[in-house]
Amino acid sequence: MALFSKDLGIDLGTMFVRIAEGDQIVLQEPTIVAVNMEEELMLAVGEEALGMLGRVTETIEVIRPLQNGVVAYYELTRALLEILLKKVSGPLRIFRPRVMIAHPYDITSVERRAVHEAVLDVIRGGNAQMIPQPLAAALGIDLPIGTPSGNMIVLLGGGCSQAAVLAMHDIVSGETLRQGGLYLDEAIVTYVRRKYGLIIGQPTAEQAKLEIGAAVPQDEEKRIDLQGQDQVTGLPRSFSLTTGEIVEAVQEPLENVFEMVRLVLEKTPPELASDIIDRGIALCGAGALLRGMDKLMTQKLGVPTYLVDNPISCVAEGAVRTIELYPILQRNFPQL
Ligand SMILES: Nc1ncnc2c1ncn2[C@@H]1O[C@H](COP(=O)(O)OP(=O)(O)OP(=O)(O)O)[C@@H](O)[C@H]1O
Ligand SMILES: [Mg+2]
Repeated sequence: MALFSKDLGIDLGTMFVRIAEGDQIVLQEPTIVAVNMEEELMLAVGEEALGMLGRVTETIEVIRPLQNGVVAYYELTRALLEILLKKVSGPLRIFRPRVMIAHPYDITSVERRAVHEAVLDVIRGGNAQMIPQPLAAALGIDLPIGTPSGNMIVLLGGGCSQAAVLAMHDIVSGETLRQGGLYLDEAIVTYVRRKYGLIIGQPTAEQAKLEIGAAVPQDEEKRIDLQGQDQVTGLPRSFSLTTGEIVEAVQEPLENVFEMVRLVLEKTPPELASDIIDRGIALCGAGALLRGMDKLMTQKLGVPTYLVDNPISCVAEGAVRTIELYPILQRNFPQL
């Protein structure tokens, strides 16, 4: 290891980049960039760029460089990573970090290489390896996955959802659905258009989901006041949504997630499946914070499901831990 080397775990998500060093998160920024298209100039990244969403001129575009967990705009991803990695590690020429990047399970080798190359290009001379996100999450929540017993992780992100059964430091069966929290937001947008004839944007739908939303009906029904644009007249109009309405709106997209988890359980050898019924399914990712999500999954699948203590940070925290474990885990990592 070089004198000034740092070990970093990177969770490059559709909505957020999270970087862990040691046993804690040292950076969390929205995966978003603001670009002046005419001059091909990067104006802002992360939190600052997010603040520009929907409030910019014709020449400025605010872009999410990742879509559904994979790189959609290579150059923008590279530039974003360069800025964020410099923030946590200082001048990259001196501090050549050792990096572990967590990527969604079941993506193509081309998609995986795009992330790997972007990081390698930024940390010139540093070292970068990759780990599937469900494996990183399992290590980040201290699941005993080095044993022959089965453990199951469900990871709900913004752009994708993943389910995996793990044993012997490996993924025994898994699936990735290229739908996440953003898809729930879209379902709320559609619900409001159909029921009230009003158009709202994704950020408004997400705000409603975060403030009053749930996966199952709640004892306390909450209400949120919002503004929409009338479909017919184009004029702004106030309306309100209740918790029950959000529950109704998100059932269909959540059913797709349960279908994916069922598929993984079906593919799992019976001995491991019985371990999972005993131990329960660990629910991770910021999307797991939707109220009652654990309860609904338990009901729908008939397998006890629990929300982990660190659903948001576990992928990056697990990724950084694997740098030391790399010699043991290497055989299970995708070949680049
Ligand atoms: N309290 C909450 N209730 C419901 N949803 C939430 C809550 N907090 C965050 N979310 C949702 O979680 C999603 C973001 O999850 P996360 O930060 O894990 O995604 P990501 O890692 O950036 O994306 P991905 O892993 O899919 O590439 C967003 O859709 C957001 O609305
Ligand atoms: Mg994620």
